[in-house]
Amino acid sequence: MPIGSPSIRPRRDEDIDACVRLLELTHQGDGYPVRWPTDARAWVAGGDDLVAAWVAEEAGAVVGHVALRHPRGEAVATWEAGTGLAGEQLGVVCRLFVHPSHRRDGLGRDLLRAAARESARQGLKPVLDVLTKNRGAVRLYQEEGWQAIGDFMFHLPDGCAEPARAYTL
Ligand SMILES: CC(C)(COP(=O)(O)OP(=O)(O)OC[C@H]1O[C@@H](n2cnc3c(N)ncnc32)[C@H](O)[C@@H]1OP(=O)(O)O)[C@@H](O)C(=O)NCCC(=O)NCCS
Repeated sequence: MPIGSPSIRPRRDEDIDACVRLLELTHQGDGYPVRWPTDARAWVAGGDDLVAAWVAEEAGAVVGHVALRHPRGEAVATWEAGTGLAGEQLGVVCRLFVHPSHRRDGLGRDLLRAAARESARQGLKPVLDVLTKNRGAVRLYQEEGWQAIGDFMFHLPDGCAEPARAYTL
């Protein structure tokens, strides 16, 4: 690996503030997440649902993030129907975001693979969901061999809804 190139490592508690700052940039630039969470630290940290999380780090700075969690929310029915598995058998890859100035360098792919690998290691079938308007992410998942297993409407706290797609690997 060339000196100075980003590396993927497990997230530590002290990374959370940097992850929230990175999420702010992503929210402003990409509209992800669509609505800023009421408690952004908790949204990133993951709470009881969290299985594991990773960051991409370059020169001591967090430039990417992904998490693996247990399933929850309105995508669960689509994941269960699409995989034929119960929720307890699924690992949800989520909270994937990369610093705008580090895009198209393979970091999103590496983070996605780290989470999928850990999911499989724990005997959990990897699944994820994405708003269909997030075309870069959709393209990444397709390029990585994830298969679409169903569409659903993702409801936002303010009552709006966005078309979303569920995937499995
Ligand atoms: C989606 C995201 C994580 C991708 O991160 P990234 O580090 O730029 O992705 P990678 O460099 O690993 O891309 C790997 C491949 O995915 C595809 N891809 C990634 N971003 C793409 C884009 N914007 N447009 C088209 N294809 C894209 C390409 O095939 C790419 O390979 P290539 O660069 O050799 O053509 C990043 O764009 C991001 O943070 N977006 C905002 C947050 C978001 O939408 N998160 C997903 C929520 S479900």
